[in-house]
Amino acid sequence: MKIAIIGTGSVATALGTRWSKAGHDVTFGSRQPESEKVLELLEECAPGTKALTPQLSIVGSDVILLAVPWPAAKGMLAVLGDLAGRVLIDCSNPLTADFSGIELGHSTSAAEEIAHWSKGARVVKAFNSASVKVMLNPQFGDYRATMFYCGDDPAAKDLVKRLISDLDFDPADAGPLASARYLEPLAMLYIHLAFKQGWGSNCAFKILKR
Ligand SMILES: NC(=O)c1ccc[n+]([C@@H]2O[C@H](COP(=O)([O-])OP(=O)(O)OC[C@H]3O[C@@H](n4cnc5c(N)ncnc54)[C@H](OP(=O)(O)O)[C@@H]3O)[C@@H](O)[C@H]2O)c1
Repeated sequence: MKIAIIGTGSVATALGTRWSKAGHDVTFGSRQPESEKVLELLEECAPGTKALTPQLSIVGSDVILLAVPWPAAKGMLAVLGDLAGRVLIDCSNPLTADFSGIELGHSTSAAEEIAHWSKGARVVKAFNSASVKVMLNPQFGDYRATMFYCGDDPAAKDLVKRLISDLDFDPADAGPLASARYLEPLAMLYIHLAFKQGWGSNCAFKILKR
């Protein structure tokens, strides 16, 4: 699959390196695609992985992962331009500046705001409820960490489900995009456990079914 990843930070690095090594054609969209930091990132990825400006990185891609800080999301979507019909993965958590809570909830979510700003993109929420350490290795003994995803477009969700499985997560369909109102507070619980309760970031959510 041809994947454009907007951003070259922690999440972009974890998912981009792993997807490239799983055989996907990854292009990072960076504000400084020729910086030393980005060149080092490319060295971690499979040969052929590229970095371009955000606008150029999305040309011809099957899917776009927006992996920028929440306060930068709206501006970056404006830079990307027309995304109507494009599959857009939103991994953001709308954290307050001091990380003590989330800015949105109950009646909307970051994912729904992003869908509104991106005017017609087929937005799927995913990858917001695990740490980067878990993104790098979702296997816990015999168990695979759960990765919840949600969205309103069935084909876009199928595509994202495949990308989740390719990283060895156990994908869990949480329903329509409005379910992001539940998935974003779930990330807040994760942050609370990891950093306030001292669990650290080598723990993950696992849902059981029978
Ligand atoms: N870190 C986690 O454990 C984690 C887990 C789940 C979800 N998330 C979510 O994933 C998203 C990305 O998080 P992250 O931890 O990867 O962030 P990060 O390490 O700070 O990286 C964000 C990247 O976004 C790009 N960017 C574009 N516009 C920017 C701006 N105005 N200010 C700063 N960076 C800008 C930068 O790449 P260039 O400089 O190359 O443009 C930067 O490397 C966030 O929404 C976060 O809530 C994070």
